[in-house]
Amino acid sequence: MKVRVTTGDPTRVAGDVLALPLFELDRDKWRLPSRLGRIDAALGGRLAAVLGTGDFRGRAGDTLTVYPDDGLAARRVVLVGLGREAQLDADALRRAAGAAVRATATRRGEELAFLAPTTRRLRPPAVARALTEGAVLAGYRFEGWQEAKPDAGPGVRQVTFLYERAPDARSARRGADEGTILAESQNLARELSNQPGNALPPAELAKRAQRTAKEVGLRCRVLGPAELKRRNMGGILAVGGGSANAPRLVVLEHGKRRAAGASRGRPTICLVGKGVTFDSGGISIKPAAGMGDMKHDMSGAAAVVGAMRAVALLKLPLHVVGILGAAENMPSGTAYRPGDLVRTMAGKSVEIVNTDAEGRVVLADALHFANTEFEPDAIVDLATLTGACVIALGSWCSGLFGNDDALVERVRRAGEASAERAWPMPLWDGHKQAIRSRAGDLKNAGGREAGAGTAAAFLSHFVGDTPWAHLDIAGTGWTEKTGPYQPAGATGVGVRLLLELLQSWKKA
Ligand code: BES
Ligand code: MN
Ligand code: ZN
Repeated sequence: MKVRVTTGDPTRVAGDVLALPLFELDRDKWRLPSRLGRIDAALGGRLAAVLGTGDFRGRAGDTLTVYPDDGLAARRVVLVGLGREAQLDADALRRAAGAAVRATATRRGEELAFLAPTTRRLRPPAVARALTEGAVLAGYRFEGWQEAKPDAGPGVRQVTFLYERAPDARSARRGADEGTILAESQNLARELSNQPGNALPPAELAKRAQRTAKEVGLRCRVLGPAELKRRNMGGILAVGGGSANAPRLVVLEHGKRRAAGASRGRPTICLVGKGVTFDSGGISIKPAAGMGDMKHDMSGAAAVVGAMRAVALLKLPLHVVGILGAAENMPSGTAYRPGDLVRTMAGKSVEIVNTDAEGRVVLADALHFANTEFEPDAIVDLATLTGACVIALGSWCSGLFGNDDALVERVRRAGEASAERAWPMPLWDGHKQAIRSRAGDLKNAGGREAGAGTAAAFLSHFVGDTPWAHLDIAGTGWTEKTGPYQPAGATGVGVRLLLELLQSWKKA
């Protein structure tokens, strides 16, 4: 989708839809916003008449279509509700732009002009960034596996954000460029996550990460099974051992590491993603119902690829390393078994009590590799780790755990600011005790209690003393519910949160 920012007379802009965002109107004493006066006049007063009916009150999510005769160059006017101005934030703008794109697409339109709202609450670049994110995210579709449906339109090709004042448009352009990078990166994460297990085994996930790296100028290394063996990564090898599709560890790197011994300079941050390209449960096999959803079990890794793309394109002044632990969890004669003792790269042994608790076994090696290879200032991992997290928090937020209160708080705030909420959960000694093993150092699953917390406790053993935060995105990584900028399927959650965290890294 092409995004443009211009100044111009909205009555003269051609296109399939001209979207007019409106703040919520009072039922009795509403007035036509003065900047819509010229459009209302061009429509022969029809805008005021429509608002007078009370059919559209500007509440968040409201839309109403008006058909102009000859007064306007655009073929349709779509009113889009922004909700109360006092409550306007970036996500309200994302949703409004998303609603306009969806309204255009369902009317088989390809070109949308959107009158950018002005508000004291947000500066023009922030407004443009949020609008662009909403529009580009709303334009995403998972395609490529279906014959073209005759009645489906081609989708929205171009969105133009209209500004009244040239200086506003100029500064908005920066925001729109940034928003495009963010949203296209999140769409990449969605696209990877939506691909089925047969199309995206670990080697293919690695290949796509490599391709992205090449496009945006990231360094990329892929460790195959021989290299994993050489480095004693018994965890990821055990999980991947049951599949004909061998595991991979992928390393994406942006920026330069600080000189050895230097205390100043660019901080190093590692982003680690669970990349289980399909999770059957292995020998502890899952029930058949809903098992297909486990094609999304690499959503953490997908978010890391998306975030690294944005980090590179935005040229962040940080050393950021993305690490994907990619494996397929399958039952077979070569699969790991319940009762197995597995030696991880860290040297700690893990008693496998359930082969379906595979994500943490993969992450054990990925986290230890991140920590020892890069000696980072912070590690953030993302994983569709536990069904227990879905029960605890639903799809309203990701579960947030860590060993460092300050980092956890920064991640929480980044989630709030990016509308990808993450909520702090406890990680105590008791959670660690629940995964002690009699036969080995750790076992890979605790009891039924606090399943998300004991999973996080397991991970904590592999990050040393490095500040670390863990996002359990099992409930947020994909959805059946559609939203104004969210089609059913993968969400690409984590990309916006991570960029918010990294862009504000210095200021914290
Ligand atoms: N990938 C699943 C977690 C999951 C479940 C994500 C539902 C999204 C939706 C993970 O590998 C898993 O199977 N976890 C087990 C752990 C248990 C065996 C200790 C679970 O949550 O049931
Ligand atoms: Mn599993
Ligand atoms: Zn899993």
